[in-house]
Amino acid sequence: MSVSAKTNDQLAELRRRVAEIVDLGQAAAVLGWDQETMMPPKGAHFRATQKAALHGIIHERLVDPKVGQLLTSLENASAQKELAELDRAFLRVIRRDFDRATKLPDSLVKDLAIATTEGVESWHRARSESRWDIFAPDLRKIVELKRQEARCVGFAEHPYDALLDEYEPGATCAQLIPLFDDLRRQTVSLLERIDRSPRRPSRAPLTQTFDRAKQATFGERVLRRMGFDFEAGREDVSAHPFTTSFGPTDVRITTRYDEHDLAVAFYATIHEGGHGLYDQGIPIDLARTGLGECASLGIHESQSRLWENLIGRSIAFWRFALPELKTLFPAQVANVTPEDMFGAVNQVERSLIRVEADEITYNLHIILRFEIERRIIAGEVDVDDLPSLWNRLTKDYLGIDVPNDAMGVLQDTHWASGLFGYFPTYSLGNLYAAQLWATIRREIPDVDERISRGEFAPILAWLRDRIHRYGRRYRPGELIERATGEAPNPVYLTRYLGEKYGQIYGF
Ligand code: CO
Repeated sequence: MSVSAKTNDQLAELRRRVAEIVDLGQAAAVLGWDQETMMPPKGAHFRATQKAALHGIIHERLVDPKVGQLLTSLENASAQKELAELDRAFLRVIRRDFDRATKLPDSLVKDLAIATTEGVESWHRARSESRWDIFAPDLRKIVELKRQEARCVGFAEHPYDALLDEYEPGATCAQLIPLFDDLRRQTVSLLERIDRSPRRPSRAPLTQTFDRAKQATFGERVLRRMGFDFEAGREDVSAHPFTTSFGPTDVRITTRYDEHDLAVAFYATIHEGGHGLYDQGIPIDLARTGLGECASLGIHESQSRLWENLIGRSIAFWRFALPELKTLFPAQVANVTPEDMFGAVNQVERSLIRVEADEITYNLHIILRFEIERRIIAGEVDVDDLPSLWNRLTKDYLGIDVPNDAMGVLQDTHWASGLFGYFPTYSLGNLYAAQLWATIRREIPDVDERISRGEFAPILAWLRDRIHRYGRRYRPGELIERATGEAPNPVYLTRYLGEKYGQIYGF
């Protein structure tokens, strides 16, 4: 294949423009990280204008007509088979970003940046005082802007599809509703079997007093074993744990501490550590190209869930980690066994808080949010009615009463940040993770023994090879098929959950 000088120049020009847009986006991400970890409360107002200014500039650069001309011209070259596969992938993702952005007016982008920065601030106050009325006016503005966004982007069937597609390219309500209905039925059936079991694993080993600094040491040791590079990342504290990347050599993760529950900070650390390993695993030569990002949020979440649940909540893992824990907390866990820890970290309970939910009920929390979001975006429910709708669905799906809004409708930061369409990617992450794990177990037959010795390098190498190194080169379904030899299939998740919880609860 021969590439003409003109095509080469155009590619170089488009790459230069994209690199600058990526740089600006990562600079905006630094401001967002700071807002959640370091910024004093009164910083919110000026932070809102700063972020709005940056996002406005990013949007202007992306929708520049010159970008559209370069894309069209290069797509013609591509159609003549003049371009390499990697260049065609580059054009595909930039075309996608360009089309999404050109459909959104500048004023909408700026209004969303301001509304969500103010929303995050009022959500923090609303949650700490458990008062919906503090947050509701800001949320109303955000919902109206997201509905405008859906109309601008366009959709075939449901306005929510336009928002879903941003996080999981190609996902639609039509596809997810039957998938999640099936998952919900299987989950309810598993919960009933657990209810009938006389076995009740105890969480007692986890619910003692654990010094915060020593918890941080334990988390850091495990992160290092997993392969997280502290020369290319760091961990801090925030109300809601998250991961953000300013490039593969500067990846930030956060956790939060509870001195009376070891699992809170530890599993947040492993979870975000899994995200962080993906971001650190993006090849340097893909960074700043538009391809140096995750394939989708569902794929990103598959990485965190795989480390948190499939590895971090296995008995093999506690054979490795318990001796480490005993050196830090001899008084608390001296007589605890790996079997005790395996039960303690896998106790199933119908509980209120999504981020602390077990693997089984977790998906019910997601399905509840998926249903509420669809109805808000469709305009079928008013913001004022969300607390009562939330409480009713929690009763229906999980069988429990919500005592206050802080533990109910105000528990998550997503809506304050304008992230409608994001929650379903968590359950997709669970589905993908189980399928990847089934393949890893087949290809690394002694993986349990390796985990029990704290040898995570073969697992990380496998993930680097099959997932991380491709960045956004393939669409999510295609990436899973390449990695596992099969299109995404929900059977791996239900099979894994049935086997694991059958072992713990004896059925
Ligand atoms: Co996550």
